Amino acid sequence: MSSIESKKILLGVTGGIAAYKSAVLLRALQNAGMEVRVVLTQAAQAFVTPLTFQALSGHTAYTELLDSVQEAAMDHISLARWADLVLVAPATADFIARAASGHADDLLATLCLATRAPIALAPAMNQQMWLNQATRENLERLVKRGYLCWGPDDGAQACGETGSGRMLEPEALLKHAQAHFAPGSLDGINVLMTAGSTREPIDPVRFVGNRSSGKMGFALAESLRDLGASVILVSGPVSLSTPFGIECIRVETAEQMRSSVLVRVEGCDIFVGVAAVADYRPRHCASEKIKKHKETMTLELVRNPDILAEVAARGRPPFTVGFAAETEQVETYAETKRRSKGLDMIAANRVGTDEGGFESDSNALVLIWQGGREALPMMTKSLLAQHLAGRISERYHARTRS
Ligand code: C5P
Repeated sequence: MSSIESKKILLGVTGGIAAYKSAVLLRALQNAGMEVRVVLTQAAQAFVTPLTFQALSGHTAYTELLDSVQEAAMDHISLARWADLVLVAPATADFIARAASGHADDLLATLCLATRAPIALAPAMNQQMWLNQATRENLERLVKRGYLCWGPDDGAQACGETGSGRMLEPEALLKHAQAHFAPGSLDGINVLMTAGSTREPIDPVRFVGNRSSGKMGFALAESLRDLGASVILVSGPVSLSTPFGIECIRVETAEQMRSSVLVRVEGCDIFVGVAAVADYRPRHCASEKIKKHKETMTLELVRNPDILAEVAARGRPPFTVGFAAETEQVETYAETKRRSKGLDMIAANRVGTDEGGFESDSNALVLIWQGGREALPMMTKSLLAQHLAGRISERYHARTRS
C-alpha cells in the first residue's frame, strides 16, 4: 500500500476567488487515493456552495460550528481528530490573520486550534495584500508554530494585477500533499544551498553579472523545506522575497558566497549549488567610477573559486548536488562536470533556447547520478522543484544506507 492511500485530508475553503479551484483540488486528492472532508467558511460560500463539495466528496460539507445537525454527522472535535492533514486552500489574508491570533469564532478556525494534525496553508490573495507586513508577520508566526505554507505562485491575478499571491494550482498542491506523506522525508536534515547570480564589481556602480533570476533555487529551497529539511539559502542579488521558514543570507560576490557557505557547511547533510556563480571577477575594482576617456578598455579577469567543487572535496562531504547550464551536448557535458567536481548528482538544463532557462518561470531538467538518470520535461519551476526535491531526498537516503 502506498503511503498516500487512506490518508485523511480536511480541506478548508476560505473566501477568495481561488475557491473555485478547490473543487478540482478535492477531486485530485480523491483520485490520488485520499479521503477528503470539506469545511467552508461563511465567506467561502459567497464564491462556491457547500453542495458542490458535498456532491463531489459524497459527505456533508461542514459550514457551522454551532449546528446540531452538522455536529451530529461528526462533531468538530472528532473532525479535528479524524484528519491526518488540514489543508486550507485557498487561505485568505483574513483567515491567516485569524489563525495567527488563535481565533475560534468559526468552524475552520476552531478546527485549526483543536487538531493535532499538521496544517498546510495555500495562500491566495492580491499581491499587495501578500506583500503587506501584517500578512508576512502573521504567516511568520504560524510557520514558527509549525504551519506549512505551500505557495503562493506568481502570475496574473483575478484583480487584474500581476505578482505573487496566486493560489498554487490543484496539481501542485496535490504534489505537496503527496510529498508530505511520502517516505524518505528530510525531517531533521540540514540543507545548505546557493542560489541566484553573483555580481563582481568593476567600480562602485558597475559589475560583471549574469541573468540568473534565483527562481529555481528559491523554489527548490521551499520544496526541500516542505519535505521537513532545515534550509539555509545563500543567495546572490535577486528580486525574490525570503520564503517562510528558510534562513536566507544575502551576498553579492562569489567570494562572499564562498565564505558564507564555508562557515555554515560543517554539519550540513545536503549541499545544493544552484547559484550561477561568475566564473571570473575583475582583478581590480576601481575605487571611483571609471570615466569613458578611452576608445577601448580592457578588463583583466581572474578565476573565482569553485564553491561547489570545494564543498564536494571536503573530508566528509555532504550529499552534493550541482546544476549545469549547457548550450550543447547537455548530458555529456553535465556528466563530465559531475565526475570532475566529485558530485553525487547533477541537474542539467539547456540554456540559450527560447523556452525555459534563466529568467523563465518554466524549465526542463535531466538529473544524473551514479548509475541513474531521470528526464524531467518542461514544467513550472515550482513543480520541477518538487520533483527534484523528492529525487534528492531519495538519493540522499540511498547514499546514507549504502
Ligand atoms: O562549472 P560550472 O560553472 O558549469 O558548474 C555549475 C555548478 O557549479 C553549479 O551548481 C554552480 O552553483 C556551481 N559553481 C560554484 N562555484 C563556481 C562556479 C560554479 O559553486 N565558481
